[in-house]
Amino acid sequence: MKNKILITSALPYANGPIHLGHLAGCYLPADIYYRYQKLKNRDVIHICGTDENGVPITIEAERDKKSPQELVDFYYKHIKESFERLGIVHDNFSRTSIPLHHKNAQSFFKKVNDKNYIITKRTKQYFCPECKRFLADRYIEGTCPFCDSKEARGDQCENCGRWLDPENLISPRCKICGGTPILRETEHWYFRLDLLQPELEKWIEPKKHWKNNVKRFCRGWFKEGLVPRAITRDLNWGVPVPLEEADGKVLYVWFDAPIGYISSTMEWALRIGKPDRWKDYWLDSETSLVHFIGKDNIVFHAMVWPAMLIAHGDYVLPSEIPANEFLNIKGGKFSTSRKRAVWLHEFLDIFEPDLLRYALSVNLPENKDTDFDWDDFQKKVNNELANILGNFVNRTISFVNRVYSSKVPAAVNLSAEDREMLEYLLKTRGVIEDRIEAFELKKGIKALMELAKEANRYFDRTKPWETIKEDKEKCSRTINTCIQVVDGLAALMEPYLPFTSKKILGMLDIERNEWEKVGEPRIPENKKMGKIEILFKKVDDERIRIEKEKLGIEEAEMVEIISIDEFSKVEMKVATVESAEKVENTQKLVKMVVDIGGEKRQVVAGIAEFYSPEELVGKKIIVVTNLAPAKIKGIESNGMLLAATKDNELALLTIDKPIDVGAKVS
Ligand code: 2FM
Ligand code: ZN
Repeated sequence: MKNKILITSALPYANGPIHLGHLAGCYLPADIYYRYQKLKNRDVIHICGTDENGVPITIEAERDKKSPQELVDFYYKHIKESFERLGIVHDNFSRTSIPLHHKNAQSFFKKVNDKNYIITKRTKQYFCPECKRFLADRYIEGTCPFCDSKEARGDQCENCGRWLDPENLISPRCKICGGTPILRETEHWYFRLDLLQPELEKWIEPKKHWKNNVKRFCRGWFKEGLVPRAITRDLNWGVPVPLEEADGKVLYVWFDAPIGYISSTMEWALRIGKPDRWKDYWLDSETSLVHFIGKDNIVFHAMVWPAMLIAHGDYVLPSEIPANEFLNIKGGKFSTSRKRAVWLHEFLDIFEPDLLRYALSVNLPENKDTDFDWDDFQKKVNNELANILGNFVNRTISFVNRVYSSKVPAAVNLSAEDREMLEYLLKTRGVIEDRIEAFELKKGIKALMELAKEANRYFDRTKPWETIKEDKEKCSRTINTCIQVVDGLAALMEPYLPFTSKKILGMLDIERNEWEKVGEPRIPENKKMGKIEILFKKVDDERIRIEKEKLGIEEAEMVEIISIDEFSKVEMKVATVESAEKVENTQKLVKMVVDIGGEKRQVVAGIAEFYSPEELVGKKIIVVTNLAPAKIKGIESNGMLLAATKDNELALLTIDKPIDVGAKVS
């Protein structure tokens, strides 16, 4: 371990709130790692800030009918506060729209340009004559050449997931005005990744211990061969390219964002009144630079950014790039733009922060995607935090209060059993250290829970409630040992569960944790306990039901928007049911003949559980009349009747006033 550690976590875009997917990806792991290093008294800082440039911001601002500045001002504050509420500690939380960063990113660009790692190329790019501007990839929409989706973007088709170039789109449209863009010649600045490939490969070679996902990516990219990459955009929001001939161009957001790590460290140094302090980290090859990111950021952190640093030449290169996979929500992906998420700020309006920190820590997507599930969350809180960890702390301190007037009893002549318990505590400290340093944070929290389980078993085995009557010395030894374990648990949980750790310190009436003393009996005999409190409140079923329902509502909101033209393709008519019979050997199907106004149709529908054939005959209903005929259990159905359903209810749509059969519904 090098003597200085600079931890960064990916700068979140200031275009939406933080959700649990973001947290599990990098923000919580970075905080756990940082808190641990602090407890080890290492020289460590944690740097972050919001990513406030580029198309992700301008598009969201347009959607929200705000200026980009208003949008980033809002989300900078929102994100910073949400992190603080969850106990995520940053030495500095900056933003990439500030002048310091603009200046820093521009001087980085200039230096790399002066060293001939940047070239210009003339290319053709879409230009909207109506809006009089060149259109960045995401400002162009059109039909996907692969799947025919009409909503494909210039950079990607979200429907089939393919990467696209704007020129691939069929019938391209300007996203701003809907007009047809034309290809026009323009100039852009390209970063010579090709020149840097040999040095990059040499640098990555010894990083054998890096996670597989990162190594796999790098290998793939090297094999294809790196090519120059455009690092400028035509946009009126972002860091202007610092060259006269580049009027109206800004740096590509992925070029300026990682430079934001340096800018944020500079801002920190200024803030603490030691303006050169940032250099101690960035200009010293002995610094261990650790970038916590999610897997979607790998290529930029393991490839483009190190290449930028090599080209620049002054700064330290990353030592570690712990990249997590995704945390999904019931099998789907968290998504800010689609508003499908469990939002951090909403979560914290209801639950204590450590409940979330625990649920995420034990389920971190370190090697593969994992799922967030509300039932699972409830189980983790109730069966693990409350029943195991909370229970042990509570039963120990209550015992001291009740039996020993809130003073820690003596530990005279510890037995082998007591010593084993303390050794288990010490051993767990070692396990947690090893796991955290190997970026296997999930195993660390699991070891902590194992310790709490073992402590409960020790309590049960030694039966202090009995020995208090029969062998007072033994009882006092047991409870003293348990108090030392409670103290040790408080220290070992601090990286993961800082709020709970603090509560326990309060109950023990102790100022702070001392990591290196875990395993030694630190709490002296006769020490008076502080006020006892419940560590974890259980989560009830009703709460979980409400949360699941919320998610359901959001899912419903995700329904695809269609145009009036698309809707008007559906032909619906008022019809009467002339005859109806249950389809044999089925539970649900009814076969009907309906009159749709001068024409009779056979329709099969799954409504037998809700309507008897007799009830149906004579009813006026609504039928979709231009659906392609379908065979249901071998019977042809030539129309679809409309019904409303929820849970186990179904009601047919009918009409509110008499009207002739065959009337069109629209
Ligand atoms: O994916 C993202 O959310 C980016 N805003 C991450 C940027 S990380 C860094 F380079 F700043
Ligand atoms: Zn336009």
